[in-house]
Amino acid sequence: MALGTMYFGTQVPRNQAFACLNHAYELGARFWDTANNYAFWANGTGNESEETIGAWLAANGTGMRDEVTLATKIGARPRSLGDGLDASMGLSRRAIRTQVQDSLRRLDVDHVDVLYTHIDDANTALEETLDALSQLVDEGLTRTIASSNLTAARLTEALETPSAHPYTALQQRFSYLEPAPSTDLSPHVLLDDEVSSLCSELNLTRLGYSPLLSGAYTRADRPLPEGYEMGPAASAALTEIGNKYRLDRGQVVLSWMVRRREKLIPVVGVSTPEQVQSAWEAVTTTLNSSDVEWLERARHE
Ligand SMILES: NC(=O)c1ccc[n+]([C@@H]2O[C@H](COP(=O)([O-])OP(=O)(O)OC[C@H]3O[C@@H](n4cnc5c(N)ncnc54)[C@H](OP(=O)(O)O)[C@@H]3O)[C@@H](O)[C@H]2O)c1
Repeated sequence: MALGTMYFGTQVPRNQAFACLNHAYELGARFWDTANNYAFWANGTGNESEETIGAWLAANGTGMRDEVTLATKIGARPRSLGDGLDASMGLSRRAIRTQVQDSLRRLDVDHVDVLYTHIDDANTALEETLDALSQLVDEGLTRTIASSNLTAARLTEALETPSAHPYTALQQRFSYLEPAPSTDLSPHVLLDDEVSSLCSELNLTRLGYSPLLSGAYTRADRPLPEGYEMGPAASAALTEIGNKYRLDRGQVVLSWMVRRREKLIPVVGVSTPEQVQSAWEAVTTTLNSSDVEWLERARHE
């Protein structure tokens, strides 16, 4: 699993974020997911999550950098504090260079392992974006490039654009329940069946963010987001399979994600070590194939 660190340093104070990272590391998790705009909308500047990870790496000594896989995202940082995503820095050659240098400084590292484009930039030619990203790979500033929040059409275009280094992974919104087709999730883009098949065809690693729907599978205080509904078949499958494996419903979702045929890596948001523990127990529990199939069927009933 990837540890989602979106609110580290804002809603999750630094000491609590450190406790989450420490606990995840002790359990064996090694994949930290951040971005260069987390979390400007939560009374932050957009620096906090990367800076928290940078401080945690520094506090753990020089060897720690190579122990973990660091993924960050660029392109969706507002040009000025107070602006929104409609005034994002985007993915031009110059914007990419500036954002990566700033991210490396905040993370206090000389390279990241995965660099995502966070949201699409329709104002910059894909050739320019991919060329600028490829140059970063050649310079060793990132090991690999990836993308997030692309529609099937734009993913196809990106993959058809000649590039020294193509995207290797795609991070989209994904959970067990699917929203009604008319739901406006913008700027989020779902990992739908079409995108998922493209990933299989082109050998892209799939990652799914917001898998727990903010805790709505298990918590009475967290209603399902607008556009989502839990039908009786899905509810029964999650509960009965949960009882069988001693998992709660959110844990069943995570466990299912890593075992389904179209495997994906859940990017799980956490704010306490207990939530880290819960996610880890989920992804290390093996559901048998008939239970995975049951969940798959119930999801569409
Ligand atoms: N690429 C993108 O555009 C994009 C967009 C969104 C997110 N992301 C990434 O995905 C990560 C996860 O996103 P998310 O926070 O929306 O996802 P989420 O995993 O659906 O929700 C995380 C929240 O669920 C609650 N939770 C966690 N474990 C729980 C448990 N065991 N029981 C009950 N509630 C639990 C926590 O809420 P409380 O903290 O309130 O307790 C936690 O903050 C982010 O951190 C970020 O790295 C990427």
